[in-house]
Amino acid sequence: MLKIAIVGATGIVGQQAIVSLLGHPWFKITKLVASERSAGKKYIDALRDANGSIRWWCPEELPEHIANMVVEEASIFDPKSVDIIFSTMDAGPAKELEPKYAKTTPVISTASAFRYEADTPILVGGVNMDHAALLAVQQKNRGWKGFISPKSNCTIAGLVVSLKPILDNFGVKQVIMTSLQAMSGAGRTPGLSAMDMMENIVPYISGEEPKVETEPQKILGKLTGKTIKNAAFGITATCTRVPVLDGHTVCAFVQTKKKCSPEDVKKAMMDYGKDFAELHLPSSPAHLIDVTDDPFRPQPRVDRDKGGGMTVTVGRIRKDPIIENGIKYVCLAHNTKLGAAKGALQTAEYLVKNYLKLVK
Ligand SMILES: NC(=O)c1ccc[n+]([C@@H]2O[C@H](COP(=O)([O-])OP(=O)(O)OC[C@H]3O[C@@H](n4cnc5c(N)ncnc54)[C@H](OP(=O)(O)O)[C@@H]3O)[C@@H](O)[C@H]2O)c1
Repeated sequence: MLKIAIVGATGIVGQQAIVSLLGHPWFKITKLVASERSAGKKYIDALRDANGSIRWWCPEELPEHIANMVVEEASIFDPKSVDIIFSTMDAGPAKELEPKYAKTTPVISTASAFRYEADTPILVGGVNMDHAALLAVQQKNRGWKGFISPKSNCTIAGLVVSLKPILDNFGVKQVIMTSLQAMSGAGRTPGLSAMDMMENIVPYISGEEPKVETEPQKILGKLTGKTIKNAAFGITATCTRVPVLDGHTVCAFVQTKKKCSPEDVKKAMMDYGKDFAELHLPSSPAHLIDVTDDPFRPQPRVDRDKGGGMTVTVGRIRKDPIIENGIKYVCLAHNTKLGAAKGALQTAEYLVKNYLKLVK
């Protein structure tokens, strides 16, 4: 079994990482790491808020052996004590600590700190696994034995999966999108207040739109030698926060290069991702995309856990009446599973099987 540390283990994504790793056939959690605030405490005590209430976010029971583990401090944690690090901290500490860890140990990160570096791929399961070759360039450039492999922003995790078959079959000229993002996407520090969110929609998420408008082009770009040539389409986005616990919804309007019908798009999406599913990675779903004809779906509560939270649900595929070669649809992805912790785990599984050859 490979030894895993989760750095940022007390946060929403860290908790989801713990749940995703329970009973994993290849990986075993041996270290839980967080900030100075949590260090030295038993994990269960590190989860307590100022009133003593335990902020365990997942519906699954917190296992006793995890509850009793003592949390280590990220700045003095020894990366050589594990085989792989899942970094689920905020971008600020990630920027400082991930390179220190990567000197010796592979880091799979959900933070944005390294996503935009030229020698760093943003791997999304089944979409751009060939970009993993860029990790060797990163290792060489920086003299690291390990590497940093960041996940994408959670809002576009479902969008890029749905766009890939459209891009491959019909080409993409531009994308217009509005997101309806779940509250868990904001994390716990400081987290959102119920008073702000109940019976409400917040039409702005600080720092989100620039990420959403640039990451898909890199993810859907082509690896050419030592860097990625971004896909040549534009995205314009409005990102909103809605009173949903988990599951980010995106309403997308896509202008394709070649004319295509909603039926063509549906078929391309349904046929997509079979090769990747056949790798049978423990965290991969049987279907990367599920297309529904029910006009009332996808809905976060009903559809977010499909495929263990790793399947993207697409519905309402229609012809756009005013955009030339325009197709519109609604897609939904689980933000803390596909969009963060379980997506990171799937990346680790892929890299272990195909890149690291680490399984002991
Ligand atoms: N939530 C999502 O849906 C989602 C999706 C994709 C990506 N992400 C990204 O994933 C990361 C975690 O998000 P989250 O929602 O889980 O946030 P969160 O609930 O606020 O958790 C933040 C975690 O970072 C730790 N941390 C803070 N400062 C630290 C430091 N100086 N050193 C070490 N650890 C530190 C915290 O530990 P303490 O408890 O000890 O303070 C906590 O474990 C962020 O970078 C976020 O942008 C989140």
